[in-house]
Amino acid sequence: MSGTCVIGLQWGDEAKGKIVDLLTRDFDVVVRYQGGANAGHTVVVAGQVYKLHHIPSGVLSPGVMNVIGPGVVLNPPVALQEIDSLASRDIKLTDNLMISDRLHVVFPWHIAEDKVMNASPVGGGESIGTTNRGIGPCYRDKYGRSHAIRLGDLYRPDFRDKVERIVDFKQRVLAQLGSSELLVASEIFDEYSGHAERLRPFVADTTNYLLDAVEAGKRLLFEGAQGAMLDIDHGTFPFVTSSNSSGVGVAAGSGVPARWIKKVIGVVKGYTTRVGGGPFPTELTDEIGQRIRDLGHEYGTTTGRPRRCGWFDVVAVRYAARLSGVDSLAVMMLDVLSQLSEVKVCVAYDLDGQRIDRFPSHTEDLRRVQPVWEVLPGWQQDVRGAHRIEDLPAGARRYLDRVSELVGRPIGIVSVGPGREQTLFAS
Ligand code: GDP
Ligand code: IMO
Ligand code: MG
Repeated sequence: MSGTCVIGLQWGDEAKGKIVDLLTRDFDVVVRYQGGANAGHTVVVAGQVYKLHHIPSGVLSPGVMNVIGPGVVLNPPVALQEIDSLASRDIKLTDNLMISDRLHVVFPWHIAEDKVMNASPVGGGESIGTTNRGIGPCYRDKYGRSHAIRLGDLYRPDFRDKVERIVDFKQRVLAQLGSSELLVASEIFDEYSGHAERLRPFVADTTNYLLDAVEAGKRLLFEGAQGAMLDIDHGTFPFVTSSNSSGVGVAAGSGVPARWIKKVIGVVKGYTTRVGGGPFPTELTDEIGQRIRDLGHEYGTTTGRPRRCGWFDVVAVRYAARLSGVDSLAVMMLDVLSQLSEVKVCVAYDLDGQRIDRFPSHTEDLRRVQPVWEVLPGWQQDVRGAHRIEDLPAGARRYLDRVSELVGRPIGIVSVGPGREQTLFAS
């Protein structure tokens, strides 16, 4: 038995989808356990690009069960559209997808609330810059309990009453917030009853399924969404998402106790990106940042927003790796760095004249830090066709060795392009 987790160690979009797809062949079950349609995981198979928001990235490998666990917040129309779009490309989801009846459902009022709340600054004059997918409001209702609806509730006789009661409340809240959203309970009930019927074949008690699976010795692969620095408890609050997106979230979100988790792979880009607001110490607002954005096609998978780009931040990644219990690193996008004449890494911060190597807990301290740089020479050689880590240019290997040394974790995987074949495994 083995439970392996794939966790992003930065601010999301580290290319977790690619790694999950690649590793899936060695697993029986792939599990999404937190986040929702805010995630956008890209998998490229034989030149075909698949963008997945809800469906686990194991879906492109036959013979694997894909589970959406209780910690996810599900947007039914997005999930159904994804299922249809995959089917139109001959990826059939029939007996290879299970969705937890315990998970919470995102409704139109959550999205309307997200849109109005997102306009307000939350610190340093910045707003969070959410994906507007209703994630925060849905998780808030889950913890508040009184206005929450779980997937299993859609099949119960009092579903209509629940919708009517909650719409009555939410309509008043939205009006107070200045939203012009008009909620019609009967229409929402009809629409979501329709979604529920279509989702019915997939809805199950995934918690017991996964507990049976681990006890039967099946191999589970956990697919993290977002990244550790966006974790609600441990990230750059309040510029975070509303779930535990670091390694600590796996057990809570899936229902599989931590004792079954044997291995954690931390995914990082060779540089850093961030979408939305919040401090970003190594951000490059100059032409090098734009160059990285262009070379890496750094535009959001879910929202299309340009991603903020910057150098690799050892302080942040070391913190994220320790927090997530990472065993080894997957370093992605090495091909993007290969075009640059020199490459910098941030090895420590200067905070009010003092050198620190611990990640600050308060976002306002993080805003004031100045990166302490180590500059490494670039290698300026095309690495996209490399097959082994040993074949990489000496400069690239030096860079990888230094990152590994500074973060304190070995490198298990290096990625030199989006394709499955553009992946190098450490021997
Ligand atoms: P995720 O959310 O962590 O799964 O990452 P995204 O899919 O949002 O963003 C990663 C992007 O990088 C996708 O477009 C991938 O196809 C692409 N990608 C993955 N690995 C590499 C790589 O090594 N080099 C390049 N150039 N692109 C990559
Ligand atoms: P994947 O799984 C990158 C960011 C948003 C915003 C903050 C809160 O593809 O790596 P939310 O809508 O979750 O309330 O937004 O989190 N964010 C992501 N950034 N990748 C993601 O997912 C993200 N999911 C949310 O941009 O800053
Ligand atoms: Mg993404």
